[in-house]
Amino acid sequence: MANISYIDGLYCNIVDAKISINDRGYHFGDAVYEVILYNNGKFYDYDGHITRLYNSLKLININFHLSKQQLKIIIKNLFKLNRVNFGSIYIQVSRGVADRNHSYFGLNSKPILTMIVSKKKNNISDHIKGVKAITIFDNRWSRPDIKTTQLLPNVLAKTHANEKNAYEGIFIDYEGYVTEGSSSNIWIINNDNEILTREIDGKILSGITRKTIAQFAKKNKFKMLEKKFTKDEMLDSKEVFLTSASSFVTPIIEIDNIKIGNGMIGKTSIELRNLYFKNFN
Ligand code: PDD
Repeated sequence: MANISYIDGLYCNIVDAKISINDRGYHFGDAVYEVILYNNGKFYDYDGHITRLYNSLKLININFHLSKQQLKIIIKNLFKLNRVNFGSIYIQVSRGVADRNHSYFGLNSKPILTMIVSKKKNNISDHIKGVKAITIFDNRWSRPDIKTTQLLPNVLAKTHANEKNAYEGIFIDYEGYVTEGSSSNIWIINNDNEILTREIDGKILSGITRKTIAQFAKKNKFKMLEKKFTKDEMLDSKEVFLTSASSFVTPIIEIDNIKIGNGMIGKTSIELRNLYFKNFN
């Protein structure tokens, strides 16, 4: 982890960064967030992430005081101060500090912006490995399309996956359809060579990496459909991969102890991963 964080107007060492016990993000998960990847002076999908941040703020009625330009200056400063070449930034905005009360009716609190930079090992060009996943019932609230910090079902799902020696927990809805991963969007390549990912139907987060990959797939003449698929279709597909700002395009080679395809990382997943990096480098 890099040392300098940003907290409510101050750049300070992460050990000195303090937040009120009455922050509504702490009490209620009354906050929204973004994660953006950074590589040698470039942010990946910066505008998409920032637009979604402001959209999330609007969806839960947080009147954020900073403009996109002001926010960008702070983010750039933070990367300079931390001297990070490859990493990510976590941006969180809570509704602010107030005596504990579920309702924010009539509350005029100042939103609190906090940011943490994380240094990462640059694994872009490494020979990547496929990961394992498990499936798990999607027991989240009905607005997973809003990127709030209220993530307990996701936290439990990811932990459960890790306990089973897997990287990701894939949520399945009550009809047997795949929604998304605990912190990623899920894709398959079926036996007709169609690339499928669930449509934006309010049941998933509108992933920024998802959007970029969908555009690349379409531009590069892949047959790509935004359409939901069942758990059985996923297990029977040629390739499965996940996308997110922190995992880019990562092939999934085994789900619930069942090998996907021949159990090796798939050609199309790798092609899309490479296209993603090529676009930003
Ligand atoms: N998670 N779905 C969920 C539930 C997520 O939490 C994420 C991202 C995604 C992928 O979205 P994007 O491509 O915009 O990163 C989909 C971030 C990385 C996180 O919580 O750390």
